[in-house]
Amino acid sequence: MKVLIAGGRGRVGSKVADVLEAHGAEVVSGGLDDGVDYIAGTKVAEVLKGVDTIINVLNTGSFDEEAAVRFFEGTTHSLTEAGERAGVKHHILLSIVGVGDEDGSDIGYYLGKVAQEKALKAGSIPYTIVRSTQFQGYIPVLADQHTVDGVVQAPRDLIQPVELDELVALLAEVALSGTPQGEIEIAGPERFYMDDLFRATLAAADDPREVVTVDSAGDPDALVPHGAYRAGTVLYPVRGIPLAPTTH
Ligand SMILES: NC(=O)c1ccc[n+]([C@@H]2O[C@H](COP(=O)([O-])OP(=O)(O)OC[C@H]3O[C@@H](n4cnc5c(N)ncnc54)[C@H](OP(=O)(O)O)[C@@H]3O)[C@@H](O)[C@H]2O)c1
Repeated sequence: MKVLIAGGRGRVGSKVADVLEAHGAEVVSGGLDDGVDYIAGTKVAEVLKGVDTIINVLNTGSFDEEAAVRFFEGTTHSLTEAGERAGVKHHILLSIVGVGDEDGSDIGYYLGKVAQEKALKAGSIPYTIVRSTQFQGYIPVLADQHTVDGVVQAPRDLIQPVELDELVALLAEVALSGTPQGEIEIAGPERFYMDDLFRATLAAADDPREVVTVDSAGDPDALVPHGAYRAGTVLYPVRGIPLAPTTH
């Protein structure tokens, strides 16, 4: 099986490449460092030659809606069109729990992911969308994103972070199965409130920032799965945080 990892040198992509190679798959990385640009259309057809499966783990640092939509829709459309011509049999896309066709979020990045899922579905390559919750290692970054004037503004939203290697294992498993699975989700084993999670995470790192609880900007349940999902087993590394109920 030949697999193209779009974003194969990124945080997720490089780990998926290692797992797939350990299982004997032929892996090609397609990212900017490989000379492939899905926005400019550079080397896209070339990198897809002989590829059976695409794993799309591309990412952008752009959080405003216009740039995020342009990036996620454009790159996925480019991969889908060229993939169809190359005879790709399975396109696996990494998305985020809470993102779907009807996402009502006003966060530009999320709207980019909505557009990305739609671009995937608009093509004819059988697909699997793997929606993940936030990676455990990403929680300090998320706290930074919620920081205004040195104070962390945390809504009491639900959050269920997953350990990255467990997501990586799922992506590799889906690729190696060769079977498109539609839409599947993965989340960590524990559900928290975001303000509690930020407070404990910062305290464990001796970070003096104050965490204040603020009103939720949207649906406080939006970041956690609502249907069936693969539950990770790796506990959040900071212990003693009050748990939120997993059913409500
Ligand atoms: N962080 C979370 O908690 C979380 C949760 C759920 C889902 N996700 C999703 O995980 C995915 C992967 O994230 P990550 O952290 O692994 O991203 P990352 O480390 O930033 O890697 C992104 C990759 O995209 C490549 N790339 C960017 N623009 C490109 C272009 N125009 N053409 C070709 N390649 C391009 C980069 O290439 P170079 O390396 O050459 O620059 C890099 O390999 C994202 O889609 C994100 O939405 C994240």
